[in-house]
Amino acid sequence: MRRSSDLSPEIAEEAAWWRDAVFYQVYVRSFADSNGDGVGDLDGIRSRLGYLELLGVDALWLTPFYRSPMADHGYDVADPRDVDPLFGDLAAFDRLVADAHEHNIRVTVDLVPNHSSDLHEWFQEALHAGPGSMERARYIFRDGRGFDGSQPPNNWVSVFGGPAWTRVPDGQWYLHLFAPEQPDLNWEHPEVRADLEQTLRFWLDRGVDGFRIDVAHGMAKPEGLPDMHIQAQAPGVLSDDAHDPRFDNDGVHEIHRMIRKVMDGYPGTMAVGEIWVKDDERFAAYVRPDELHLGFNFRLVEADFDADAVRSAIEHSLAAVALTGTPATWTLSNHDVVRHVTRYGGGTAGEQRARAMTLVELALPGVIYLYNGEELGLPNVELPDWALQDPTWERSGHTERGRDGCRVPIPWEGTTPPFGFSTAVNTWLPQPNEWDHLTAEAQLEDPGSMLSLYREALEHRKSHASFAGTELEWYGAPAGCFAFRRKGGGLICALNTSGASVPLPPGQVLLSSGPMDGDQLPPDTAVWLV
Ligand code: BGC
Repeated sequence: MRRSSDLSPEIAEEAAWWRDAVFYQVYVRSFADSNGDGVGDLDGIRSRLGYLELLGVDALWLTPFYRSPMADHGYDVADPRDVDPLFGDLAAFDRLVADAHEHNIRVTVDLVPNHSSDLHEWFQEALHAGPGSMERARYIFRDGRGFDGSQPPNNWVSVFGGPAWTRVPDGQWYLHLFAPEQPDLNWEHPEVRADLEQTLRFWLDRGVDGFRIDVAHGMAKPEGLPDMHIQAQAPGVLSDDAHDPRFDNDGVHEIHRMIRKVMDGYPGTMAVGEIWVKDDERFAAYVRPDELHLGFNFRLVEADFDADAVRSAIEHSLAAVALTGTPATWTLSNHDVVRHVTRYGGGTAGEQRARAMTLVELALPGVIYLYNGEELGLPNVELPDWALQDPTWERSGHTERGRDGCRVPIPWEGTTPPFGFSTAVNTWLPQPNEWDHLTAEAQLEDPGSMLSLYREALEHRKSHASFAGTELEWYGAPAGCFAFRRKGGGLICALNTSGASVPLPPGQVLLSSGPMDGDQLPPDTAVWLV
């Protein structure tokens, strides 16, 4: 079996390689299709490793490619230790890891411990075995409320809309914080823990360099399953309300300690958790030395294009990890949120602001998570109703359009869909015709393209001495602007979100997100100075 020690000696020697790594999230369905079925797959990713090396990323995060009926596009796992035939097989996975390592790119994979698929053999056994059985104890089955048990056991709602409980024919109810096809596992059950340990070792033994842990603030449930405050639920995929009994229960930390123990037996590997927890101290608890190596922080995703909001997001993110010795992580987009070009207003302004925020993000100390297609400046896509597939659309009674708009397949080359993504005309989500100027091919040689900005910025981030150190100092700046300096190396990053040009801080321009206005920084622009 392959270990990360098969990486070239220069990169293998660094045990904590992840502390300043640039990760690239591959949404496997949408990255590259090698077999012409309109859905991306593992061999497709392998065929694009040259591109990823050229882009300058250090590691991949692959979204779930395990056996799944795809009710939530792979986040409903029926067998966590096998590849779904839609994406390839274990041999294709081994080829991908081997080739990625050849390109000096590490591979991390998604783990989904909070729930399984309803077609997982455990859940099928639970359905057949009946109330009170050993089989039901692996999930969260309860009797209903009301004299005939016809009311759900509590008032919890599913993140995707509707009740978080579904009744089975014998009258009991089971909990699913997400879709009914994703029953929550009972983390009090020793077999649930033992099974995750087996899954961790299975992929670590195959040579993966780490994991992204889905809903890492889920899993543990509170004693007695008390009702939630319905009015407190935030819109969006996941809420981060401190009083939400569905998430961030103290029992979760013991699970992370178990995971860490396994990973410590595989030096050079890491785990990052999806943690939608806003309180800095509660967030920090997840990255204690015996828990996760890294935690996703979504504050940049949640900040508007506004200097004060972005500065506050940065300061909170740094504060949350300051006492832990763990680096901060930075994310502008992922497969669950509206792409940032669109969040910042879309069109030319959205693109300019996205370019500016890319320089802000890549100037920060710590770990970067890029989402496939952001380097091409892809906007969210307004898909027609017939194309929508995210369970949120159905579960919300067609009021929430869901996350498909940020998951449209990548345009690689050519002038018409499928833009080299596939040989099939019908890709799993349709691509807009207007993406002809956004293909990787169209942008590769264009020095003014989004792709060129990412390549140049990543190159500087990797090689320029001014990026040294982990601390920032902030300068005074005009309203709607900020400037910070990396204390160690001296890089200065200035951002202008106001409506007028402002004087530049002193220094030589290393890179700017758009043209300068003489010695002034124009609106919607960021600059690096040394
Ligand atoms: C993933 C989502 C997924 C959900 C349920 C998450 O937070 O990022 O894409 O739908 O977990 O597994």
